Amino acid sequence: MTTQQTPLDDPPDRTGEPGLPLASGRDTLRAAGAILPIIAQGVIARRRRVVALAGKADLDGRGVRILQDLSTRYGRGPVRLRLPGRRAALVLDGDDVRRILDGTPEPFAPDTWEKRKALGQFQPHGVLVSHGAVRAERRRFNEAVLDSGHPLHHNAAVMARAVAQEAAVLGAEVDRTGELDWDAFIRAWWRVLRRVVLGDAARDDHALTDELTRLRDAANWSFLLPRRRARRSRFRARVREHLRRAEPGSLAEMIARTPAEREVDAVDQVPQWLFAYDPAGAVALRALAALVAHPAELARAREEIGDRDLALPQDLPRLRAAVLESVRLWPTTPLLLRETTQVVPWNGGELDRRTALIIPTWYLHRDGRTRADANRFDPQQWLDGAAQEDPALVPFSAGPGRCPGRELVLFTTSLFLANLLRGRELELAAPVIDPQAPLPAGVDPFAVRLRVRPTG
Ligand code: HEM
Repeated sequence: MTTQQTPLDDPPDRTGEPGLPLASGRDTLRAAGAILPIIAQGVIARRRRVVALAGKADLDGRGVRILQDLSTRYGRGPVRLRLPGRRAALVLDGDDVRRILDGTPEPFAPDTWEKRKALGQFQPHGVLVSHGAVRAERRRFNEAVLDSGHPLHHNAAVMARAVAQEAAVLGAEVDRTGELDWDAFIRAWWRVLRRVVLGDAARDDHALTDELTRLRDAANWSFLLPRRRARRSRFRARVREHLRRAEPGSLAEMIARTPAEREVDAVDQVPQWLFAYDPAGAVALRALAALVAHPAELARAREEIGDRDLALPQDLPRLRAAVLESVRLWPTTPLLLRETTQVVPWNGGELDRRTALIIPTWYLHRDGRTRADANRFDPQQWLDGAAQEDPALVPFSAGPGRCPGRELVLFTTSLFLANLLRGRELELAAPVIDPQAPLPAGVDPFAVRLRVRPTG
């Protein structure tokens, strides 16, 4: 195999594309006004203050309304935008979403120019920014280590123990203070994920997390900041140290056992796992808040937990569905990006080569014109299969580029929540969620607070 070579390495150029709706200059500005607040909140690492401001001003909701208006006026699309220096089109239709995601990586490459610039800060050889034969090999490696497609990971027993232990530590803390907030939750979650990915000895390696956070902060600025080479190589050395132990039951052990060509660069696959596991904390906390705000759903979840041994791997479909519903309502990948690798005929027109296709999941998941329950907490749709049939609902993406960590993250988050729910009553202190009213388009995870009462 040769080293990674992508046909898309130069900055994109711009020519015209016939046959598809073209947004006016004014509407392009409005579309940008919908998308920029999403980007400003931090695509790679959330920016706490901006998230809070966006929540207060309901910028996510405003963005949904703008895109609804554009889709009403321009039709199915994709709607081309008049951006300087970049061919781009907005994908506003579920069937188009499916076609694009099913057509990954050819002719719809996931390694867009913007992603390569951003993720290059900390994982230039990650699968998400790879192309061609090397992408296929990295994808195979990721699927093998993450045990994709299996509800219970190969190492689920060791992982379940780590989840239960960390939930117990967090539980004892919040029982004492009477409150569960973001800071306590995310500290515990990072301990879980460092153990799951790198092993127990990484439990307290906060410095690793801090290094990654700084690299992610730089990545938020995409091409606007130079590469932090020294920091990346420090981070990489730290990851390599942890991988060397190949602790039984961790993903590090799976890496050691999974054959890989040299070009896979196993060490460079790990940052994506750590980085993707972090927002899963926000997803889990919002799922908990939504459950607590919906007593009937909470009762069903408690019934599912019953008297199971939560230190063992457990398949918890109801809690998984609550997590899925959380990430549908408040997607952690609010924009999926693809780039055409060739001219693609489309709906009577064509998409030119190197067109950036912008899939705004935060809008597609919440379009109340196409979904009666768009703004309700409805875990049931993930249990009866209705959600999976809707091509517009893609919180974990879909097709050949879909998240290979989906099952692993659903397993660990659902078990973590089950452990937290057992033995305590929870009440939502903030934000206010009225189960009878449409749910807010954005819920700031940093502001979530739950009152806690231990029940023994
Ligand atoms: C709630 C948590 C998570 C969500 C919502 C999520 C969602 C996604 C989405 C939407 C993509 C596709 C991105 C794109 O096409 O541009 C993706 C890709 C990916 N995710 Fe996740 N993810 C989560 C957690 C994880 C975890 C915990 C891991 C690993 C341990 C992981 C590993 C990956 C990898 C390796 C890719 C790249 C796949 C490829 O390019 O073929 N994800 N994820």
